[in-house]
Amino acid sequence: MSIGLDDVVAAETVLSDVDGEAGRLIIRGHDLEELAGHVPFEDVAAMLWDGLVPGVPSDPRAGFGEARERAFRYLSPLARHLSGLTPVEGMRLLLSALPDADKEPALLAVGGSAVAAAMAIRGATGLSPVAPDASAGHAADLLRMIKGAPVDSGRARGLDTYLVTVIDHGLNASTFAARVVASTDAGLLSAVVAGLCALKGPLHGGAPGPVLDMLDAIGTVGNAEAWLDDAMARGERLMGFGHRVYRVRDPRADVLKAAAARLRGDDNRIAFAEAVEQAALGALQRRKPGRRLDTNVEFYTAILLDSLGVPREGFTPLFAAGRTAGWVAHAVEQEKAGRIIRPQSRYVGPWPAKAA
Ligand code: ACO
Repeated sequence: MSIGLDDVVAAETVLSDVDGEAGRLIIRGHDLEELAGHVPFEDVAAMLWDGLVPGVPSDPRAGFGEARERAFRYLSPLARHLSGLTPVEGMRLLLSALPDADKEPALLAVGGSAVAAAMAIRGATGLSPVAPDASAGHAADLLRMIKGAPVDSGRARGLDTYLVTVIDHGLNASTFAARVVASTDAGLLSAVVAGLCALKGPLHGGAPGPVLDMLDAIGTVGNAEAWLDDAMARGERLMGFGHRVYRVRDPRADVLKAAAARLRGDDNRIAFAEAVEQAALGALQRRKPGRRLDTNVEFYTAILLDSLGVPREGFTPLFAAGRTAGWVAHAVEQEKAGRIIRPQSRYVGPWPAKAA
């Protein structure tokens, strides 16, 4: 029995490989570093789906643009239900409203995730939704729908780099959740909702907002060591560190750190983050010797998305917007595998009393 399914292989995939000892992420035959910041999100999604997911558009930019517009037609009437919800709760509500019976559910899921993320981020503060522009690039349009104004090419590239970096990552908790749902033939949109529900937890994709809270609470480099030691003495986990598979530094951390540095120039926020990172690695080594805990994707996600002016409550919705392309591909792969995922539990509860 493996309570957390550590090291259990539960699927074969052509989509991505996570090498936790080498710190290497391969996405459909390419190292992450070849793709992120070099190939637009739409093209990476099309490459991920190629030969697997039905309806890959011949012009990915136009195909995903049309999907955002179609999703907006379904979702915009729901904007009035978003006030009082956090962005991730709002996104969950919106994604649940997308119809399984759509003619192109895979495209609708990705277009819908971008529209839902932007609507939910705006809706949480009472702002009305901004309609998509089908002719724009996916990342630029997503950022514009959040901010309500066009964004410069540097920021659009920053978000594009982020969306590609998180597009797929083996059998992580949210992808597994999506595959479990897909294995029952419940449909792609339901699989994506399941993915989001698993992603939102702070141990998975809910971590980057709390990373920023931690950096704010630390405040100055001089305060870092004492703050981090105190947190660990209270038994808290340091957000943005540790991983089930990586025993070395998560390769996504460096890709995102470089993207944040491109945006921030000489801004000392990166230097501060680096200093806190070193202090955290020291605290982890002191308090958890031999555990091999290192920086994960979420630490520099927080710095990058903050640089883009996205509110911290919106970080998880943006993670979901990128990962939806991966969830969809895994869901289709699972449907094709054609076997329901149904493990067993060992009963340790009471047995009925024997009849006298
Ligand atoms: N801070 C402090 N201690 C930690 C941390 C951390 N960030 N991560 C792991 N540990 C500790 C565990 O408590 C455990 O200690 P113990 O054996 O003395 O009880 C030990 O290190 C080993 O833990 P693992 O088995 O390696 O961790 P696990 O696989 O169970 O958890 C997880 C992985 C959930 C990511 C964990 O590292 C964590 O909570 N990190 C903080 C939250 C975070 O950053 N999440 C985002 C992960 S990336 C992603 O999902 C996109």
